[in-house]
Amino acid sequence: WPTFVEDIEAILALKRERNAIILAHNYQTPEIFHCVADIVGDSLALARKAVTAEAQIIVLAGVYFMAETAKLLNPNKTVLIPDLGAGCSLADSITAQDVRLMRQRYPEIPVVTYVNTSAAVKAESDICCTSGNAKAVVESLGVPRVIMLPDEYLAKNVSAETNVGIIAWKGHCEVHERFTPADIRELRAAHPGVVVLAHPECPPDVVIEADFSGSTAAMSDYVEREKPPRVVLMTECSMSDNVAVAHPDVEFVRPCNLCPHMKSITLANIRSALEENRHEVRIDPRIAGPARRAVERMLSI
Ligand code: 13P
Ligand code: SF4
Repeated sequence: WPTFVEDIEAILALKRERNAIILAHNYQTPEIFHCVADIVGDSLALARKAVTAEAQIIVLAGVYFMAETAKLLNPNKTVLIPDLGAGCSLADSITAQDVRLMRQRYPEIPVVTYVNTSAAVKAESDICCTSGNAKAVVESLGVPRVIMLPDEYLAKNVSAETNVGIIAWKGHCEVHERFTPADIRELRAAHPGVVVLAHPECPPDVVIEADFSGSTAAMSDYVEREKPPRVVLMTECSMSDNVAVAHPDVEFVRPCNLCPHMKSITLANIRSALEENRHEVRIDPRIAGPARRAVERMLSI
């Protein structure tokens, strides 16, 4: 705790001195989420809020693709990621060349790319989506079939809710793929009445077994709206810690899976990022133009 307090005070001072803000994803640990972040949310909210950010420096407390998205939307600002190793198994599952090959294989079919991808992959796609707007994005295109990359499970979960045909890829989130329907059955037996919320990156058989599925923001809104007496969030561990703070009357059952990439962001490296201006996100302008168009097209929906 003493180091936490020292780091928090230093970060708050550095933000003022440097005209910086911190955007933090819902999976950041509570001391980041509650004590130093200016804006918190799911991937969609962070992208939207990045557009209106007034500070000159944006520190992205999240993973690399989120920092790239913030940079795409703020080409004239400095965007910092505190740890360059903060990757994502979904972003690592596909390359720009893979997308070009998919286009050759399925000519004329639009490519919808999850934001959990590199800027180079976004640049090859027609439009981006997040877990919060995937169905709306797919249906906005007015076509019978789309290619949806790279999360196989998100694609299948969206496919169950729409008449649009979806051609998927084989990428998986290493955190959500570990949940199983048996986990849910065991939880229901051990915690009678528990309401189960599952992220749509979970396998479809998990989502079917759950009571509700939605992005991290949608899960948080569900708890706020429904105030279930007992709930379990089938997602990354910090999510329950962060949501529970505002809901002392809700019992959070907490089996969860850690995302090592999200956890590589700490108060100490956020402080170093602000002190030493690192690590600055830069995107090749030839990639940035088309990648920005795909993100902006999503935000216009
Ligand atoms: P959302 O916050 O958009 O639901 O995304 C979850 C996730 O896994 C981000 O890496
Ligand atoms: Fe990627 Fe999954 Fe970690 Fe999100 S939780 S950053 S999707 S590996």
